Amino acid sequence: MINNLHIPIMANEVLSLIDNKNNLSILDCTFGGGGHSKKFLEKGHHVIAIDQDENANIIAKKLKKKFPNFFFYKSNFKNFDLLDLDKKKFNLVLLDLGFSSNQLADSDIGLSFKENSKLNMNYLGGDLNAYKIINYYEKDELQRVFKIYGEINQAEKLAKYIIQQRSLKKINTNFEFINVLRDSGVNFRSKKIHFATKAFQALRIESNSELENLKIFLKNIHIFLDINAYLAIISFHSLEDRIVKNYFRENRIKKNKNFQNNKNWGFEILTKKPLIASKTEVLENNRARSAKLRVGRFIN
Ligand SMILES: C[S@@+](CC[C@H](N)C(=O)[O-])C[C@H]1O[C@@H](n2cnc3c(N)ncnc32)[C@H](O)[C@@H]1O
Repeated sequence: MINNLHIPIMANEVLSLIDNKNNLSILDCTFGGGGHSKKFLEKGHHVIAIDQDENANIIAKKLKKKFPNFFFYKSNFKNFDLLDLDKKKFNLVLLDLGFSSNQLADSDIGLSFKENSKLNMNYLGGDLNAYKIINYYEKDELQRVFKIYGEINQAEKLAKYIIQQRSLKKINTNFEFINVLRDSGVNFRSKKIHFATKAFQALRIESNSELENLKIFLKNIHIFLDINAYLAIISFHSLEDRIVKNYFRENRIKKNKNFQNNKNWGFEILTKKPLIASKTEVLENNRARSAKLRVGRFIN
């Protein structure tokens, strides 16, 4: 039995996009605990949801019993265009990126630096994980992960230290990895956040190919958007948000209504600056503090 701990983030802001609209087709590409999907279903919309996580699949089966107009696909959202979906055009597509609170609480996944778990961090059930990265990546690859995905300035120093330590003994657990970080002499420059946050973020992004999945998804999503459809994307770190921001910028409709790059489609950007969660929501759900919501309206 799964204890569903996830609280949907910025649900009011997402729902306000489709206020007073009935019978919409909605594609929820990150079902998670089903919080957003359930809200759409309660308003009578038709929902197709995707998630690669097995627990999400179990939660979805329960929801299906209550709502016949709900369909779930266990898949990576980067492959959504290969799925045999019963709808081909959607009025709202939602991505609520990253991991759910259910996955955060799962010590087999080991996303938290507060709990000692085996080094893993793959929440999508894939083959790559933090143990393989830390114990087997070459120096340049380690350096790339920490520099690009962790934005750690002394990534080379960290990579060298990890290689030295793992030659003495494999690094098996989150706490062992935190000790390596602490002893590395690297300045993580983190007054506000735990010093291991950025290194954990880097390993998580690499283990799950987070940025690649998002980029692949964005390549084809326009084919599935109905006229005036909303594409709403909630991201939780600046690397993801930058990809989303650039995607909307590159495909925005200019003031003279010209499409860019010889395309016959584009977006009206509804969030010049990304929306953030209200203070009340952040007080009730701390995970909302870093959420950024960007929305575009599809024009073709
Ligand atoms: C923040 S949670 C979504 C929570 C959901 N909106 C809710 O209200 O319950 C993100 C979910 O997206 C899933 N996910 C992340 N990347 C994915 C990918 N590339 N393919 C499929 N699912 C993915 C995760 O497994 C996780 O369940």
